[in-house]
Amino acid sequence: MLHKKIVELLNAQINREFYSSYLYLDTSNYFYDNSLNGYGNWFDIQTKEENAHAMLFVKYMQNNGERVVLEAIAKPDIIYSGFKHALEEAYTHELFISQSINEIYALAHELKDFRTMQFLDWFVKEQGEEEKNVDEMCKRFDLFGNDPRGLYMLDGEMGTRVFTAPSLVL
Ligand code: FEO
Repeated sequence: MLHKKIVELLNAQINREFYSSYLYLDTSNYFYDNSLNGYGNWFDIQTKEENAHAMLFVKYMQNNGERVVLEAIAKPDIIYSGFKHALEEAYTHELFISQSINEIYALAHELKDFRTMQFLDWFVKEQGEEEKNVDEMCKRFDLFGNDPRGLYMLDGEMGTRVFTAPSLVL
């Protein structure tokens, strides 16, 4: 049985992962609206990944006999001032998600909840990758994105991303 406070945080994390999915769908729509279909594709796949993250938390709760309480998902309301801004917001959001997962991990550690720590290990690593990916997108945009031909090439790269389901087995 999981500690009540851990259950609360896991439940909140489910909402945050679904919000991430919703946020990136909005980002994807923004890029599609601006004919950057490669970036649109990249964020569309990110939407699917975030949904998969949420479902991993759901599964973990179910495996531990805990009832998931689905809360309302907030409306993504960021007005993007440009392409770089959209990428920066994604990076900021990933930092927030990393911190959120770290907080659950810290509590699990304090409570000697080794099972939850082990479950979260995958997410800690995944967040490192997600931060790196979006940070790199920001940096590459700075390098090449302000030139139309450079932006065209970057957009082409983003269009090659394909969805692969998380490899975490619960
Ligand atoms: Fe599921 Fe991008 O954090």
